[in-house]
Amino acid sequence: MPRVNRTIVLSLLVISSSVFLLFQLYYYRKYVGKAGPHILSRTGHLTSSDVQWQTVKKFLALAQRFRLPMFLADTAALGLLSQDALRQRDRQVREPHCSFLCTDRPITSFAVYANLWKYDPGFLLAAEQKGFELLQLRGEDPRLASLDTLSGEEIPLHFLLRLNGHVIQVVFLYERSGNYLWHGALRLRAHADRSFAPFKMLDYGRHAGVYDRPQLVLTVLDGLDVQVPHNISRFLSEQRHARFLECRYRDAHNFLQLFPDDSSAAAVDFRRKAKSLLHVAARTLALLDIPFWLSSGTCLGWFRQCGIISYSRDVDVGIFIRDFRWDIVAAFRNAGLSLKHKFGKVEDSLELSFVSDDVKLDIFFFYEDGDIVWNGGTQAKSGKKFKYVFPRFSLCWAELLELKVRVPCETLDYVTANYGASWSVPVKSWDWKSSPSNVQENGAWPPAEWAGLIQVY
Ligand SMILES: *[C@@H]1O[C@H](CO)[C@@H](O)[C@H](O)[C@H]1NC(C)=O
Repeated sequence: MPRVNRTIVLSLLVISSSVFLLFQLYYYRKYVGKAGPHILSRTGHLTSSDVQWQTVKKFLALAQRFRLPMFLADTAALGLLSQDALRQRDRQVREPHCSFLCTDRPITSFAVYANLWKYDPGFLLAAEQKGFELLQLRGEDPRLASLDTLSGEEIPLHFLLRLNGHVIQVVFLYERSGNYLWHGALRLRAHADRSFAPFKMLDYGRHAGVYDRPQLVLTVLDGLDVQVPHNISRFLSEQRHARFLECRYRDAHNFLQLFPDDSSAAAVDFRRKAKSLLHVAARTLALLDIPFWLSSGTCLGWFRQCGIISYSRDVDVGIFIRDFRWDIVAAFRNAGLSLKHKFGKVEDSLELSFVSDDVKLDIFFFYEDGDIVWNGGTQAKSGKKFKYVFPRFSLCWAELLELKVRVPCETLDYVTANYGASWSVPVKSWDWKSSPSNVQENGAWPPAEWAGLIQVY
């Protein structure tokens, strides 16, 4: 479907669901009022929906009393909210009292900006008085971890509050230096009660995750005032790809003890320029909605030393060929970069290099092929082709130079494929045609096609 139509359809959906949310607000204010739905008196006994609604209601009342601005982060409830308004109306007719918050799951998840959380024993006491059992999960503060200070202070990461068998998960979101929100992984201590909650069903905590700060709106859901992300479909899609990898600060620290960073003026200058180039690249590709990841030496730099390798002389990123668009070139030009070379074609071994301030940005396009993923290389003077083969990988978020970037989640496999088992030892004389462990010769471009396929500017 053409992009324009999709945008129109999406906007219509957004408008219709906004209208519906307003309708909800009106409906509940007018007909349900402050008392909320009277589920109990109607059925006489507690169904799981009743328990879920009552538990969420009590929890929200507590949060409000202690001024903790929770927002609904539950994927099931947000999923119900994001569907189109017509189907929601049908649902409402069938289940008028709890169409969104009663998800048939034993958990409802909320998130809170951790900077708004002040440790208040009153909150926990009040929760206990209301009958909630509490499990607090804490962990090291990664914002204090760096190459110099290795151990962080403990901070709250997740709270689980249980009432009548229903669990409310509260995810603490912390602001990180790259201007994004982070939550920690949920890890049980050795003696923790493993039956406290169905841990495998939690939406948050299997891994650490990161998010852009969502815009929130206050609405009324099933008679309760609840904050929800303004753009629910964007939030849900971020949630599916939120996994974050912390840099391995301890290993990087040890590496830099053995091989200290070059502190010459030239090296410092290169690192500064590389940082600014990476920021421009990330901004430009974000505008085009093209995901990229750190590749080759830039990926190795993050993995091995949580920084830029100063003798690498360029910045390398990878993009899946399915995400390629020709307007990449124009977008980089508008961002002040000039195209230095273009090798290969969309069907085979495409590679673009841009330059800014004497630093080169190499964009390698990756081709998926069964169990492997590969990118191509071209030698300009001979027309020879090369192929670099990697095991399949998925993408995770990471932070490099105060920037939220993607890296292959299976970073060790990726780096080992490229640099061999001795990737942890610096190699300064590097030949891209023969040094990589995963390079294969791949024939040559027919001379008749050179003009189109080997373009150097
Ligand atoms: C919501 O997010 C999606 C995906 O990022 C985007 O395409 C859409 O335009 C956004 N809608 C609004 C109203 O901002």
